[in-house]
Amino acid sequence: MLKYSNSIFSNYFGGAEKISSHEFEALRKYIYKLCGLNITKGKEYLIIHRLAEIFKANGCKTWAEFHEKLVRDRKGALAEEVISAISTNETSFFRDSHPFESVRAKVFPKFLEKQRSARTRSSGKVRIWCAASSTGQEPYSLAMLISEYANSSEGRGLDLSRVEIIATDISNKALEAARKGIYSTMDYSRGLPSNYRKYFKRKGSDWEVDPKIRAMVNFRKLNLVDSFSHLGDFDFVLCRNVLIYFDSETRLGIVNRIADMLGEDSYLLLGASEGIIGQTDHFVAEYVGPAILYRKDSGEALKTRKISSGFNRRSVGKSATA
Ligand SMILES: C[S@@+](CC[C@H](N)C(=O)[O-])C[C@H]1O[C@@H](n2cnc3c(N)ncnc32)[C@H](O)[C@@H]1O
Repeated sequence: MLKYSNSIFSNYFGGAEKISSHEFEALRKYIYKLCGLNITKGKEYLIIHRLAEIFKANGCKTWAEFHEKLVRDRKGALAEEVISAISTNETSFFRDSHPFESVRAKVFPKFLEKQRSARTRSSGKVRIWCAASSTGQEPYSLAMLISEYANSSEGRGLDLSRVEIIATDISNKALEAARKGIYSTMDYSRGLPSNYRKYFKRKGSDWEVDPKIRAMVNFRKLNLVDSFSHLGDFDFVLCRNVLIYFDSETRLGIVNRIADMLGEDSYLLLGASEGIIGQTDHFVAEYVGPAILYRKDSGEALKTRKISSGFNRRSVGKSATA
């Protein structure tokens, strides 16, 4: 039984500070099945800290009671609250910057080529999927970046009306904020280069994304653990900073299913600590400065494995938990 002995904790957590190993195991398994999140042993505090509010609001006295309510929750409303509370929504505009530079240098010219030669995949459009888009900063960064590109000399001719960006997340709360496209001054200033400020206008003390940029992104709810083939084929997929929360089996399953949706020569972008070299034969790693793009090409995967052993050691088998 993990118990915070301090009475301040007891007052604050209202009984949620006590969790037995049996209760933890039941909740851990439930959450894993619900969304793939791998809460390893020793991370009881995650459940206590993130779910205590819901535990109290539902009048629970024990975690066994809370688990029971979840199991009996036919409408899924409680499960939805758990997902929003347990998931990490950390994000920012142009997060890590280098990946976006690599996208502009390598991915966008391919879009232009595809549009010019009409080698587009389904629906005659260039299709981008931003999986795990959180509160929207990532897909909006992409929409702003591609708009800038289309107005630059290299990108002249790129038809933005034939570019579709689909952004998905499991959390309704994150999706709701993303669709609004309104950000606090802190979120707005975090990572946004000054030349992109023109895409925002003041809304009270906050900042609103330009409606044209907002209209470029279509937000949908999607659990990456479930099937996603209904989304169709894509020319580029970003799946950043979410795989780290899954175990290696779930991670690889998602990456391989993404591969099925990408055409040859299309790219996948993962988070910096989510390397997949040596774990799947569907992609070849292309190093663009400090960033890595994974190009769909099953034939060359073995070759890349040989030349990138140093990278393999750093990136393979990192099974982080939240
Ligand atoms: C840390 S944020 C990353 C946001 C963005 N991709 C970035 O790199 O800035 C992780 C996001 O993954 C979402 N997520 C967690 N589990 C998920 C799942 N099973 N299916 C889809 N999204 C999930 C969370 O709701 C959260 O918004």
